[in-house]
Amino acid sequence: NENKLQAIIGHCKEYGYIFQSSEIYDGLSAVYDYGQYGAELKRNIREYWWRSMTLMHDNIVGIDAAIFMHPTVWKASGHVDNFSDPMIDNKDSKKRYRVDHLIEGHAETLEKAAAEAMLAQMDQLLAANDLAGLKQLIYDNKIKCGVSGTVNWTDVRQFNLMFSTQLGSVAEDASEIYLRPETAQGIFVNFLNVQKTGRMKIPFGIAQTGKAFRNEIVARGFIFRMREFEQMEMQFFIKPGTQKEWYEYWKEARMKWHLALGIPQDHYRFHDHVKLAHYADAACDIEYDFPMGFKEVEGIHSRTDFDLTQHQQYSGKKLTYFDTDINQHYVPYVIETSIGLDRAVMMVLSEAYEEQDLSADGKEDSRVVLKLPAMLAPIKLAVLPLTKKDGLPDIARDLINECRPYFKCYYEEKDSIGKRYRRQDAIGTPFCITIDHQTKEDQTVTIRYRDSMTQERIPLASVRDLVMDKIKM
Ligand code: GAP
Repeated sequence: NENKLQAIIGHCKEYGYIFQSSEIYDGLSAVYDYGQYGAELKRNIREYWWRSMTLMHDNIVGIDAAIFMHPTVWKASGHVDNFSDPMIDNKDSKKRYRVDHLIEGHAETLEKAAAEAMLAQMDQLLAANDLAGLKQLIYDNKIKCGVSGTVNWTDVRQFNLMFSTQLGSVAEDASEIYLRPETAQGIFVNFLNVQKTGRMKIPFGIAQTGKAFRNEIVARGFIFRMREFEQMEMQFFIKPGTQKEWYEYWKEARMKWHLALGIPQDHYRFHDHVKLAHYADAACDIEYDFPMGFKEVEGIHSRTDFDLTQHQQYSGKKLTYFDTDINQHYVPYVIETSIGLDRAVMMVLSEAYEEQDLSADGKEDSRVVLKLPAMLAPIKLAVLPLTKKDGLPDIARDLINECRPYFKCYYEEKDSIGKRYRRQDAIGTPFCITIDHQTKEDQTVTIRYRDSMTQERIPLASVRDLVMDKIKM
């Protein structure tokens, strides 16, 4: 729901998670900056993904390919010719709309049967790339989009989503290159480099995380749809004919990864693609129940040998693998798993965000808490001396110095202890340690747990190992 989304956006800004890019200049649409806590959370999710791929599998290795690639890569991949969305402009308001989003938005105002009929018609027109038909559909349904009276629409046009720029400083020599719209192609073009130097045997995977750029026509939903975002992709190279079983394997493996975040099963669902992209023989999305409803967070695609075959053709270089088990050369098939890191951040935040009413005995009280999995929390441990004197800050500092090589700690001595706990709740810190006068006598401290708000006394010397144990990935 819209209120929850707005609350999360406000919370992210207030607590240093996510800011609008270039905010002092009124922002840049659909571009965001991660603040001090957001950056840590994002790193931790990236690390959790990277480990699940490269540490937990013998046969998956990670690479880091450049954002800029030879322009022919995007001819071969089909992005120059096909990576576009139909759009239409309102001539009066000068606003631009993605045709499918415009029609889907209108469908939400209709009765179920009428909406379904209109959407079915839209799907057909999109599949046939019938741009005139799409315009007619918009006119026939009198779609207005917030403007009263008749809307003066332009024709429907295809709009390529790739950003381009010039490589080389001298105008005559400069060539147009693109900012990659997906990280996957950096893996495909390095397939043989990695296979040969890593002596990889099929089946094997190559994983990568990194920025991708798309000039989305309508970018909305906070960090759900951005123009600059990060992907975590893995291409799994397999023997042709085995794609069905590996596709099922990765569907299950990726869902397990999500569930291991502690997110309940019923907050997820698979959405199988009925209309397949030109390169795929099976594809599905893992959808998460965002505040805006179920939406794609990850895609799993059986990409056949499309990409490698295309690169072989465009580059003139052989991209085959010699399978010693069957004494045959072939172009491997590929199963891809592709998750948006920013979407994963938004998923984890949506899941963690909770407003709690703590009123009791006629006293009003409430808190906002981020119930982040401890392994992902930006700060693992806050250390709070009860007072600023009597040597309590020194004990706190010593504890932080003991822990800091292992995980992120936070020291705070201002305000009442209750206020300090609430601030850590809002940041999502799973454990708070309070140092008080008793600590000096018996070397024990109070540990306070974020989710249950319960407290117990434990030996000061056990704090580091206790936290280490709880934050293991
Ligand atoms: N290599 C396949 C590929 O790029 P995709 O479905 O276009 O497939 C994969 O993108 C994932 O990247 C999506 O599931 C989504 O999580 C993320 N993603 C795509 N476009 C995005 C955008 N504009 N903003 C944020 N994340 C995006």
